[in-house]
Amino acid sequence: MKEYLPPNLDVIRPILWDARGLRLLDQRLLPGKEKYLRFTSWQEVRKAIKDMVVRGAPAIGITAAIGMVLGAEKIKAQSKKAFLTSLRRIGEGFKRARPTAVNLSWAVERLLVRAENAPWTSKADLVELLRAEALKIWEEDIEANKRMGALGAKLLPEKGVVLTHCNAGALATGGFGTALGVIRAAVDRGKQLEVIADETRPWLQGARLTAWELKKVGIPVKVIADNAAGFLLRRGQIQTVVVGADRIAANGDVANKIGTYSVAVLARENGIPFYVAAPLSTIDLLTGSGDDIPVEGRSEKEVLYCGGQRIAPSGVEALNPAFDITPAKYITAIITEKGLAYPPFTKNLKILFQD
Ligand code: MRU
Repeated sequence: MKEYLPPNLDVIRPILWDARGLRLLDQRLLPGKEKYLRFTSWQEVRKAIKDMVVRGAPAIGITAAIGMVLGAEKIKAQSKKAFLTSLRRIGEGFKRARPTAVNLSWAVERLLVRAENAPWTSKADLVELLRAEALKIWEEDIEANKRMGALGAKLLPEKGVVLTHCNAGALATGGFGTALGVIRAAVDRGKQLEVIADETRPWLQGARLTAWELKKVGIPVKVIADNAAGFLLRRGQIQTVVVGADRIAANGDVANKIGTYSVAVLARENGIPFYVAAPLSTIDLLTGSGDDIPVEGRSEKEVLYCGGQRIAPSGVEALNPAFDITPAKYITAIITEKGLAYPPFTKNLKILFQD
């Protein structure tokens, strides 16, 4: 059976794709259980993205691209016009699944443009082109991560402790990782690093996923309660902070997992460099500043319950913004596959997109 897998796939594989469909590692069950769920329709894939079976900006972009292909396979159309109308409707469905990470709409748009520009020979031919494009998005993401790793590794100390927030590793990408990719690349090059992972309430991506990944690749990691970061930064127990991003506005403001902003301010207060690692697919030059980035609000149940147990009195409500915005002024540099961007970001991010 043909496997649609990029060649240099990571030891950590959140996405598997073969002729029988798509399988996703259910990240809601980690680290307790490693279980893959199978998906055969685009509606199921959209729900998996919404429900966080798969999460992380590049990973949901790649998954949506594959979901578009699954949807395209089932479109019954005799003309290109009818095909495109159905494909656009599927694309809109994916874009609404999670609004903050721009990689999702970026991947959907890329497939739509591919279909629009292709000649109409048959529906099967067009689906083949889309399949190749989805695979290309996935392969390019892995390459971008490796490149970010090589460039970003130089910024980390020869020996020391790196703080990260949420999970920006292989689980959140096509493979290898953005922020964790930088750390992995630095360790591969002989740097002696330890990682402190913020637990990242309420979904615990740091405690559950980052710690699981780093353990798997043999990098020492300690988990802290989110509110311990300031204390440790002030005590000199952390030398560098590296995080990923869900969307970077044209002025360098960064949307990332809720809690990132507090870490960035505390890092600045204590003179610690704060790096953001993200591929160009995360940079949204059409969004002027962080104020214009849509921030996903999720169910208050995610805050009110922990491990299935209600932790606040009944009748008490919660707020659950899933992301926050870190103003560009707190960011030391942005690590991309095309190079490092330093302030002023409005000028220097644009340069990355020039050939
Ligand atoms: O809600 P999530 O788990 O999808 O949020 C993920 C993050 O905030 C990551 O830091 C970001 O997507 C970068 S992943 C390379």
